[in-house]
Amino acid sequence: MPKKKERENPSAIAGRRIVLGVSGGIAAYKSAELLRALVKKGALVQVMMTANACRFVGPTTFEALSGGPVCCDLFADGRNGPIPHIEWARQAEAVVVAPATANIIAKLAAGIADDALSTLMLAVTAPTLICPSMNTHMYESRAVQRNLAVLREDGYEVLAPGVGDLACGTAGAGRMPEPDVIADRVCRLLVPKDMSGKKVLITAGPTREPIDPVRFISNHSSGRMGYALARAAEHRGADVTLVSGPVSLTPPVNVERLSVTTAEEMAEAALARLPYSHIIIMVAAVGDYQSDTVAAHKIKKGGKPELALRLRETRDILKEAGRKKKKQVLVGFAAETQSLMKNARAKLTAKNADLIVANPVAGKDSAFGSDTNEVCLLFKDGREERLPRLDKEHLAHILLDRIMALS
Ligand code: CTP
Repeated sequence: MPKKKERENPSAIAGRRIVLGVSGGIAAYKSAELLRALVKKGALVQVMMTANACRFVGPTTFEALSGGPVCCDLFADGRNGPIPHIEWARQAEAVVVAPATANIIAKLAAGIADDALSTLMLAVTAPTLICPSMNTHMYESRAVQRNLAVLREDGYEVLAPGVGDLACGTAGAGRMPEPDVIADRVCRLLVPKDMSGKKVLITAGPTREPIDPVRFISNHSSGRMGYALARAAEHRGADVTLVSGPVSLTPPVNVERLSVTTAEEMAEAALARLPYSHIIIMVAAVGDYQSDTVAAHKIKKGGKPELALRLRETRDILKEAGRKKKKQVLVGFAAETQSLMKNARAKLTAKNADLIVANPVAGKDSAFGSDTNEVCLLFKDGREERLPRLDKEHLAHILLDRIMALS
């Protein structure tokens, strides 16, 4: 077992004990990537492999990546120390089986314990994710579907396989999802579901206001803070809608993402969902101005040294939400390059928000495009809370803690 160390990366998964079970499918090579992703997030991972898995990838690879011994044999080490399948099951805070072959799925459904992994699985009480991966016809067979239904009934989380070209030459359902997606689902297993039943609406990213068919006015927002909030809320069991401007981020799993481009489109999409939301968090860096006219064709230089654009204000989505809101908790962000607290306080009142998250967006400390953010929270009741510089994922959970206390 790798030694438990201080949390340097305070994500939900950092410092948590996870068992990765690898069974004998061609996707076993992707499990090495999954292990890397989990270790990168700070997890303490122990790997258990079936004999067939060892034929696809050597245990040495997993030993090197996990920093600990890999268990492949039910009778390994039992005489000299703790019995791995019992000890590992006892310590595990989450278990993931990836890939899960038809064979291990059938054994789990029937309670068969005839090797290290299937025996461990019977002793596990921690939340468990099963990632089926096999040929499409095998996956769609009645037997496998029946066994997966039993596993769901027994409380296992089953991750639907991806659809696409498979190593066996067929195309269809059966691909093991990408390691980052599985790692995200493992994270979710570890998070208490204190937001279940809450509908959360989040705006994120920049908007683009067109000038002509090829040009637009926009800003440097990456969307990362809004996406981190959407992911964290989904992990905590919320039903999340993310209204997103153009960003290059992967959509969070199990989140309804509505892609928009302009401020007007964002306003339409977000305000239509306002009445159905319990918590509204407006993180988007919405363009304040749009061009009065949008040229039908590309604007040509035409020999003029100057070009004046006439701009007109866009709708202030947060302000409209503040006017319309009833019992919802409304949260805004204040992106400031100067007089952070003074400007943020003014926005709290002007937009009738319950909480404003003030963040600087100038210079090297800018929240734009960064993985970290240093913010100050301004509550409607006058309280203020300054937070240290935090990873956006960690900050997202702290913000949700504060928001839940208001709802
Ligand atoms: N906001 C919005 N719609 C707009 C402009 C801003 O919903 N048209 C929201 C943002 O999502 C954020 C908050 O209002 O939650 C503050 O945005 P910010 O850009 O900091 O301030 P503005 O209100 O645009 O004011 P200013 O640009 O003058 O600072």
